[in-house]
Amino acid sequence: MTDKTANTMWGGRFAAGPDAIMEAINASIGFDQRMAAQDIAGSRAHAAMLGAAGIISTKDADTIREGLLTVLSEIEAGTFEFSTALEDIHMNVEARLKQVIGESAGRLHTGRSRNDQVATDFKLWVRDQLDAAEAGLLALIDALLAQADAGADWVMPGFTHLQTAQPVTWGHHMMAYVEMLGRDLSRVRDARARMNECPLGAAALAGTSFPIDREMTAQALGFDRPAANSLDAVSDRDFALEFLGVASICAMHLSRFAEELVIWSSAQFRFVTLSDRFSTGSSIMPQKKNPDAAELIRAKVGRIMGANVGLMMVMKGLPLAYSKDMQEDKEQVFDAADNWMLALAAMEGMVRDMTANRESLAAAAGAGFSTATDLADWLVRVLGMPFRDAHHVTGSLVALAEGKGCDLPDLSLEDMQSVHGDITKDVFDVLGVQNSVDSRMSYGGTAPAQVRAQVGRWREVLK
Ligand code: ARG
Repeated sequence: MTDKTANTMWGGRFAAGPDAIMEAINASIGFDQRMAAQDIAGSRAHAAMLGAAGIISTKDADTIREGLLTVLSEIEAGTFEFSTALEDIHMNVEARLKQVIGESAGRLHTGRSRNDQVATDFKLWVRDQLDAAEAGLLALIDALLAQADAGADWVMPGFTHLQTAQPVTWGHHMMAYVEMLGRDLSRVRDARARMNECPLGAAALAGTSFPIDREMTAQALGFDRPAANSLDAVSDRDFALEFLGVASICAMHLSRFAEELVIWSSAQFRFVTLSDRFSTGSSIMPQKKNPDAAELIRAKVGRIMGANVGLMMVMKGLPLAYSKDMQEDKEQVFDAADNWMLALAAMEGMVRDMTANRESLAAAAGAGFSTATDLADWLVRVLGMPFRDAHHVTGSLVALAEGKGCDLPDLSLEDMQSVHGDITKDVFDVLGVQNSVDSRMSYGGTAPAQVRAQVGRWREVLK
């Protein structure tokens, strides 16, 4: 036992202060000081409501609200001294408020508890992060739309199993990520709308006997309404879990794109050149230009998904209402948020700066018998062959070309006719990659006209 005196916030029941180890495991001020602005916003709304409802005098309410601004400015200026003995941001702020304004500070905690206070602070913090994520997603989508627009008709190989499948367009490939990130954007907005209920006024767990006005505090803090069940309000962390879920899916998307950038920027592919601003060198190999940002983005999903699983495990099996376990909710969310925002910003920078190497893309687009499907389709369309037979004939032609060490357009008409006598020279029209992509006009297909239509649609949606 240390010789510390009992805590001033609840000292009435205690004869002695906590053991140093107790203080170390219990304190959250080391990390929850990140919610200082939200804590003070919540307290200012609460004080205004207490004054308006006649629960405290308007004079006290005004003094408290002013004093809280002073405390906030100290925190923002970096002059505030955080104390571990005061455990968390809530008690640090309140203790300092008392030093600043005196005894009336003691009236602030009327009709509330740290349980509804922390739920409110954390929700406000996560809500801010969802707004930041929305901005980050919009910026990244904008960068992708610019790439897609510029390269709507640039041909490149489309892959399945990372094997050349059919030619696609650069714009089409970029727009695939726009679709993914567009769903992330929609999930961000859904999560924000669902979480936007105010826990403040739930008090410790049961509500309060004071005639508080929860509509007023909810409105002041930008919530749509007060949370309807006080037990749920103080013990709900779904909003943080949803945040992490949305972040995890988005980080997974970013990791897939990052992986493609790593592959594409390699000497073996040369599909893209990343800018110097988003590349690094090697301390030993002078020729190296490494896609470190892409690799790190590829990795971020690990810690973000880890946070998601981590918080799920913290919440699993907790009885109603608040348990101190829930203090373990913050650090993982903070870390995940920081890294999600960073990954979004880094990806946006890379996408804006990167140059697609049109020649390499085009050369690769024609390799690997990428227009074999176009040839099979021609046999169906022109010769009336059942697709299965056409597939077989085309397979033989591919084998023939492979044996000769050439691509399909390099076969002679005699070569073609040796496999099927009805083939005419018109077949060569469909073996070019540009023709191949132009022909894929089905909705959502890779034809440049379709890609441009999708770019236009997204620009309209995001207006
Ligand atoms: N620091 C605490 C947390 O983050 C605040 C709530 C404390 N509530 C309590 N009943 N001890 O969860």
